[in-house]
Amino acid sequence: MIGKLNHVGVATPSIETAVALYRDVFGATDITEKRALPEQGVWVCFVNLPNAQIELIEPWGENSPIAAFLAKNPKGGQHHVCFEVVDILAARDAMRAKGATMLGTGEPRMGAHGVPVIFLHPRDMGGVLVELMETPRAAH
Ligand code: CO
Repeated sequence: MIGKLNHVGVATPSIETAVALYRDVFGATDITEKRALPEQGVWVCFVNLPNAQIELIEPWGENSPIAAFLAKNPKGGQHHVCFEVVDILAARDAMRAKGATMLGTGEPRMGAHGVPVIFLHPRDMGGVLVELMETPRAAH
């Protein structure tokens, strides 16, 4: 059921600073523009690697869901991993039946890639916050 690793989410207090790291130290050349996702309370920017992406996320607005994470990790840090699944609802229901807990209502929300996503609570995931996203159609 689990598909490709799509991206690793990295929280940062400053996308500009994080971009400079990936561009100047790692030598990444394919980095998207920073853009706001107000419904999710974050700014995002993607560093495109040959086999996956790094999703840089910075708080947007007063009630950002990553504010608490950054309070604990002021320099930022690894926040979540995202796996692709063919059918988000089927994956959710199957994992829920096996004891996984969804964050929020468990209803998929539109993610940064324009496909539905859900998040699985780290307490059932070996301490890792897991995002599942439906495989983008263009990738087929
Ligand atoms: Co993500």
